[in-house]
Amino acid sequence: MRKIPTNSQPAPRKTELPLDLSGPHVTPNASSQHRLYQALCHAIVGGIVKPGEPLPPSRTLAKQTGFRRNAVTSAYERLIADGFADATVGSGTFVAARIPARTADARKTKIAIEAPQQGMFALGCTLIDDRAVQRFRSFAGRRLRAFGREHLHYGDPRGSLELRAAIADHLLSARGLRCDPDQIMLSSGTQHALRIVLSAILKTGDQIWCEDPGYPAARKAIEYCGHRPVPVPVDQFGMRVARGRAMAPSARAAYVTPSHQFPLGVQMSMTRRLELLDWAKDADAFVFEDDYDSEFRYDGAPLLSLAGIDHLQRVIYIGTFAKTLFPGLRLGYCALPERLIGPVTSARAALDRYPGTLLEGAVADMLNSGAFAANLRKVRGLYREARDALALTLATASDGKLSVPVPSQGLHLVARFDPSIEPLVASQAKAAAGVEGWLLAETYHRARPLPGFVLGFAGHPIPQLIASAEKLAKASLAALRANRKPDASGTGRVKRVKRKALPSRSAV
Ligand SMILES: Cc1ncc(COP(=O)(O)O)c(C=O)c1O
Repeated sequence: MRKIPTNSQPAPRKTELPLDLSGPHVTPNASSQHRLYQALCHAIVGGIVKPGEPLPPSRTLAKQTGFRRNAVTSAYERLIADGFADATVGSGTFVAARIPARTADARKTKIAIEAPQQGMFALGCTLIDDRAVQRFRSFAGRRLRAFGREHLHYGDPRGSLELRAAIADHLLSARGLRCDPDQIMLSSGTQHALRIVLSAILKTGDQIWCEDPGYPAARKAIEYCGHRPVPVPVDQFGMRVARGRAMAPSARAAYVTPSHQFPLGVQMSMTRRLELLDWAKDADAFVFEDDYDSEFRYDGAPLLSLAGIDHLQRVIYIGTFAKTLFPGLRLGYCALPERLIGPVTSARAALDRYPGTLLEGAVADMLNSGAFAANLRKVRGLYREARDALALTLATASDGKLSVPVPSQGLHLVARFDPSIEPLVASQAKAAAGVEGWLLAETYHRARPLPGFVLGFAGHPIPQLIASAEKLAKASLAALRANRKPDASGTGRVKRVKRKALPSRSAV
């Protein structure tokens, strides 16, 4: 037994110890030994018993708490093993002279994690039809009942062949993208796919063109991987490739949302697409195509993907089930150029081996049975209604002060003030209206932000969308009035900023 490291005479042994056995530090259904251990830790870390002080004899504590003596001795043994207590034969158990700091700190530290938005206009909310939920439940149930050997081994780093084949079929029919299931890799979402592929093909410090404004999560993922995002401005035709060439001609990759630029909603013109592919060829670079919402096209035929034009030579196509099914699946995928299959598969195996297998079969069933497509048809109609209600209310209730182009695709829209208005007006209006969604300014990196909002309409009930749109429009008018500066004639005008090279109104 270790000697108790105290210099002073031990204090008299405690007879009764004030223990809190029902507070939040105690797991209600845990074993009596574990609950006792937790309560004792709480008392020690909280200073109720001081370092070096004796703990009650096990018999006494058992009597006090009503637990068996065995439970008390086991709890004491664990305290000793974890460094909270010491014991000497014949003298009993004492609180250690030094309490492990790690645990004491953990009690004090509250880490502030930013909660995901769920209020009105939050982006990333989706709907799933009741019928699709039933089908998914039944597919998942059937797959779990048939649980077998295939889940007991490590699997293919790209994910199950069955689901990859179903995704390859979907890409061909929905996006005109022809690829072999071997070229598909499953991921737990867009950022994950981006990270794995970047790890395989780029070096630390490499430059990557990113749209400005653009999708902040992709930029952050790129930065976390140690690469340098180059913010290339966007206009009504998409990323300005010539600017990219001027800013970073030898960047190693570009990340774009060509079918529905995030957030502005512009569609990359064919000229720009070809310019981008030409640059990629000249620079021996790759292009990441984030095709996050193409399944939600409201008018006209879906556009051919950039990867479809390039035949997956230099384009890495990224898709997600976060919007077409639900975000909690954490399931996305990418389609890779053939020459990247080897390096990307190795990188995946090194980073996190392979994706979880339990739900893959059920998702494949959704795709193969037509339940996936039926759900899309259903929610697409609902989203279209939500889009129209939101756009109309915002434009009308703001007396036309907000320009609200109706997007032909996707789950969000952009509502903009006149470009000469200070972005501050938008932030004041959003705070006053108490709504979520984003300020357009939050999506800018280096370019001068346009004043306005990025508002999600999917997954929000239409009556609440309308009420919140009215609130936001009223708050916008009030913010415009509050920022009105008296001019020479005394009639008042709103603070304006000079701008050049703005996307045209029809662009978004
Ligand atoms: C531009 C863009 N890409 C991708 C995603 C989907 O991300 P994930 O697949 O990680 O859920 C979103 C979600 O809002 C998005 O806005």
